Amino acid sequence: MNKYIHAGSPQFFAFNVWSIESAKAVMDAAAQTGCGLILQTSMKAYEQLDKEGFRTYVKDYGQKNDIKTYLHLDHCRKMEYIHEAVDLGWDSVMIDASEKPLCENIVITNEVIRTARQKGVLVEAEIGQIRGQEDDISSVKAGIAGMREIEEFLKNTDVDMLAAAIGTVHGLYKGAPDIHYDVIEQTAQITEIPFVVHGGTGLSDGELLRLLSYKNVKKINISTDVKLAYRRGIEESIRDGAMEPKGFDPLRVERRIHDSIQQMAAEKMELLKKGRTM
Ligand code: G3H
Ligand code: ZN
Repeated sequence: MNKYIHAGSPQFFAFNVWSIESAKAVMDAAAQTGCGLILQTSMKAYEQLDKEGFRTYVKDYGQKNDIKTYLHLDHCRKMEYIHEAVDLGWDSVMIDASEKPLCENIVITNEVIRTARQKGVLVEAEIGQIRGQEDDISSVKAGIAGMREIEEFLKNTDVDMLAAAIGTVHGLYKGAPDIHYDVIEQTAQITEIPFVVHGGTGLSDGELLRLLSYKNVKKINISTDVKLAYRRGIEESIRDGAMEPKGFDPLRVERRIHDSIQQMAAEKMELLKKGRTM
């Protein structure tokens, strides 16, 4: 099993991408910074992708450019997608049964683990409710994961990564983030399993560095920032006249979008290196 993330592994940012172009931009940031990275697809992106073509491109480009790249299926609620991604060579999958009662979450997660283990694929699960909207996943209630729930879950599943709701939010924050760092600390006292932080967009560098200061935090998810960087690339293209019909050059616009995503991702990855020196 390619246990690419574990108690002794590096920390990663996991960026949600939806196309070969967006994946390439984030991978170029990894090559620029020398960091490894996780490319993750939401269910919505996964549904629309040429999955095998995408996986082949990512793995080939990573190999050619010596970028440690891992493919992850994010917030999946459909077992057929889990089975397919495991068979297609995704490196890890997230079964998101967080909206179910704990006992059901445990049963569903164990079913996914049984499937994933056969192909050496890692499994992430979620405890508590991460508020906000992330592609096709939304939740209005913010349910901070309770330690009793976490203990019960870890006692009954052999999950590889745990996403416990700590107050971070999917999408843009409406106010100052209220992050329950104590949940990370207490979880570290009962398990070495990698802790996953969702809702990375909108957290300050200080908050990201504080999250990275916890050695059990091994994966921080970023999705909305990738979309906003894409949007900035278009805005900049409009501003500098690259969208005018006369002499319109799609390559110039796509380059601008690529560079905007690469810059955003590189700035995040630089925090991984900064965190290692602190
Ligand atoms: O699973 C994906 C992330 O949790 C996305 O969160 O859009 O707030 O960066 P974000
Ligand atoms: Zn998430």
